[in-house]
Amino acid sequence: MKISHICCIGAGYVGGPTMAVIANKCPHIKVTVVDLNAERIARWNDDNVENIPVYEPGLSTIVAASRGKNLFFSTEVDKAIDEAQMIFISVNTPTKTYGTGKGMAADLKYIELCARQIARVATTDKIVVEKSTLPVRTAEALKSILDNTGNGVQYQILSNPEFLAEGTAVEDLLAPDRVLIGGGTDEAGQKAIQALVDIYANWVPKERILTTNVWSSELSKLTANAFLAQRVSSINAISELCEKTGANVNEVARAIGMDSRIGSKFLKASVGFGGSCFQKDILNLVYIAKSYGLQEVADYWEQVIQLNDHQKNRFARNIVSTLYNTISGKKIAFLGWAFKKDTNDTRESAAIYVADALMQEQAQIAVYDPKVEHPQVLSDLNYLETRDAASNAALVTSIGDPYAACHEAHAIAIMTEWDEFKTYDWQKIYDSMLKPAFIFDGRNILDAEAMRVIGFHYQGIGS
Ligand code: NAD
Ligand code: UGA
Repeated sequence: MKISHICCIGAGYVGGPTMAVIANKCPHIKVTVVDLNAERIARWNDDNVENIPVYEPGLSTIVAASRGKNLFFSTEVDKAIDEAQMIFISVNTPTKTYGTGKGMAADLKYIELCARQIARVATTDKIVVEKSTLPVRTAEALKSILDNTGNGVQYQILSNPEFLAEGTAVEDLLAPDRVLIGGGTDEAGQKAIQALVDIYANWVPKERILTTNVWSSELSKLTANAFLAQRVSSINAISELCEKTGANVNEVARAIGMDSRIGSKFLKASVGFGGSCFQKDILNLVYIAKSYGLQEVADYWEQVIQLNDHQKNRFARNIVSTLYNTISGKKIAFLGWAFKKDTNDTRESAAIYVADALMQEQAQIAVYDPKVEHPQVLSDLNYLETRDAASNAALVTSIGDPYAACHEAHAIAIMTEWDEFKTYDWQKIYDSMLKPAFIFDGRNILDAEAMRVIGFHYQGIGS
């Protein structure tokens, strides 16, 4: 099937960048990204392309090049479904907060709503592509809904999980390590797979496009995230041992990373991984394993999350104990709130949990993040429901200037590895702080020795 019209349901961190790149690389295809969230769509359509709702290096240029030509953002979901031959589902799949599987299983209500909407609207055959990260065997449920509630048209379900990382989304999409496409093994399934392969082949080398059965593709996505998160928890576990033994985790990471069987990437010790997916996807994997009665498998992966929680907790506890076991009323500057650099995304950021723990001790938190605004900081804290909104607002401020954020602070906690933090005038910051002046570098980005020479009491992770 030759594809001339694509619809993507969900204009978020995945749908927006992914479709912008497809539109850019396939000028012969009309790509329409739809979302129920009218405000988000309005921002994707903002005359000033710098105001698009997802901050990613290079993204605004790609959007500007195709928007209005063959890339469209709209709230008219039915219309876009109707005219497309291929529909990507890229909606959120958060952890369930109610009922069976609460706190573990993926909440598939948004996915099911999409399937029911497609079934209601479609009057021609469609290829439906799972772009969202989904539990293995979700395609079966989608097919059942589409076939049983549809208008008698034919559906093919493909799994095409997305492996982009935030902050590098555009480069990941332009030059992916691999593109994974899972589909049916019969002739119709293979034809659908080929239609999607043909789209990616416009810019991805053929040998990097892998095709598998649907279940392998669905499970590979959860597995990839579990392995990546496991590496971070593994090095973070070693970081604590380094602190007790005089070893330095950066040196250990370098030494093991040069073993080509281990590899050097994803071995940066930190205050803990965040982001919308690692925790959610591992919990989902754990839930799936449990649902098949595989308790040992579930326990094994659950430990990755437990270690991550421990890392965040011990970072906060260390701040309290180092500041003489009382931080009540003390100003603590947070440099960074996003879950990693080069993104405005704060979902599950370690900063939220560390701030919450320090606020329990009545600290005053002053946040500076180059891309995160105060309403987001408050909303992240309010979401935890540890205290009421007024109490959160009284304990946390956001300051648009890093020097002002650190002024008269007792301590600085570096929560995100933004490059600009390395370029600050640290002597000036030191001079304006209360003494002794502490830095807790949750990302090991500053030069420990240089900070100590200035006079800081500097503590990194794992040394
Ligand atoms: P997101 O929350 O940023 O975006 C999802 C969008 O879907 C929202 O704007 C929401 O309004 C919209 N939506 C929900 N239900 C809808 C419906 N019925 N009709 C129309 N729009 C609807 O989420 P995201 O970060 O883009 O993640 C989407 C999926 O991709 C998730 O399954 C996630 O696990 C996966 N994923 C995310 C990343 C990432 O880096 N964020 C990377 C790979 C995979
Ligand atoms: C991750 C995966 O890297 C993507 O392949 C995947 O598509 C995506 O999840 C997803 O499914 O959502 P992302 O969460 O955007 O991407 O960012 P990562 O670079 O993986 O970082 C995740 C967290 O781990 C961040 O908080 C980061 O600071 C932390 N991290 C990462 C470390 O603490 N140390 C490291 O060495 C690497």
